[in-house]
Amino acid sequence: MPTTLERPAAGTTPAAEDALAALDPLFSRIAPALPPVQFTGSTAARYNMGAGQPDPVSLPRDELARIVSDLLHSDEGPTALMYGDAAGFLGLREALAKKLKRGEHLDVSADEILIVNGSNHGLAVVSMAFVNPGDVAIVEAPTFMGGLRPLRQLQARIEMVPLDDQGVRVDALEGQLRALRSAGTPAKLFYTIPNFHNPAGVDLALDRRKRVVELAEEFNFVILEDDAYGELRFTGTAMPSLYSLAPKGRVIRSATLSKILAAGLRIGYVTAPKEVLARLNSLKLDGGASPFTNRVAARWLEASHDRHVRHLIDIYRGKRDALIRGLEQGFAGQEDLKPAWHVPDGGFFLWLKLPPNVDPAKVAMEAGERGVGYVPGTAFFSDGSGSEYVRLAWSMLSEPDLVAAGGLVAEAIKRSLR
Ligand SMILES: Cc1ncc(COP(=O)(O)O)c(C=O)c1O
Repeated sequence: MPTTLERPAAGTTPAAEDALAALDPLFSRIAPALPPVQFTGSTAARYNMGAGQPDPVSLPRDELARIVSDLLHSDEGPTALMYGDAAGFLGLREALAKKLKRGEHLDVSADEILIVNGSNHGLAVVSMAFVNPGDVAIVEAPTFMGGLRPLRQLQARIEMVPLDDQGVRVDALEGQLRALRSAGTPAKLFYTIPNFHNPAGVDLALDRRKRVVELAEEFNFVILEDDAYGELRFTGTAMPSLYSLAPKGRVIRSATLSKILAAGLRIGYVTAPKEVLARLNSLKLDGGASPFTNRVAARWLEASHDRHVRHLIDIYRGKRDALIRGLEQGFAGQEDLKPAWHVPDGGFFLWLKLPPNVDPAKVAMEAGERGVGYVPGTAFFSDGSGSEYVRLAWSMLSEPDLVAAGGLVAEAIKRSLR
């Protein structure tokens, strides 16, 4: 597939343009220029509900400053600043194994955990390990663009299976698997986000979790379980992971400290049998996990993780409720224009389905004029459909701002009749 370079930046000299044009045919087939993630408004919008960034106020900066200082002045200081184990600092992997045991009763050892540069990196490495160009990968519709991007980059054939408010529709998944097998193009990988789905906010029901695992056994595909938000549960009871329900090796699980500690540390962790991790590790061509950030995170996990998660749950529950309050107030007396949404039991996102008489492009414009930014639904469907959806992230704004932002979104929608 030919690659297309973006138009050179303004001010690029003719010589530089020639050089760029000469480079164009040299790019590999897996380096297409994919479009960047679309946000409405600007990421500097007054009411930025675009990215799933953690709450900036709750970042444990003082504590991290103390940990960094203690670490650098300790005997471990020099080691922290040298090359280390590519699979990640053993102490971090041990701390994560303990956390998984405490929080999820999951029995994994340190050598069944691989540290990656954020879960995005984990999703990419797993996709690279299983998908050749043209292979079939199944994703949920909608799904997280960070899971879609590596599959697109690898030129997978991406098939979508719809969600409802119980998570992925397993009947549709089974139908799809059968059709693919009959056509001689069986699916190799199924990418799923079972907890507080990004963007849909739904949880995968327990009976469906079990069914997904059964289908993986029957049709022989690998499940890539993405659990970025599972610890942030405000209401309801946690359900077992697909990882814990399946025979060893069937599920590879990717999780992250981005939403719990700090996205800027870029620490994700992939859980799988060590034989699988050895293959994934050989595809991690980033020079290995950072011995420095890994040690910082290990110390923080031991000292503060559980308490901090409880604190975050209170914060994000309040934010979710504030955003919904703002929307409800904004639509009072105008139920006909009110979008449909599922109230998530946790996580960061509210997923609105606009009524058919509302024009999504106008909503984006009206919202932008009011200083509101969000991600339009089309970013979450592999075929670019989904324009009737809007994803709002409540994670970054304060509660008063979320009430105001909910009201402004309602105003934008009400002014966007077709
Ligand atoms: C569902 C999901 N998976 C994975 C990630 C990746 O997070 P990170 O690469 O920061 O670990 C995110 C972040 O937005 C996410 O929402």
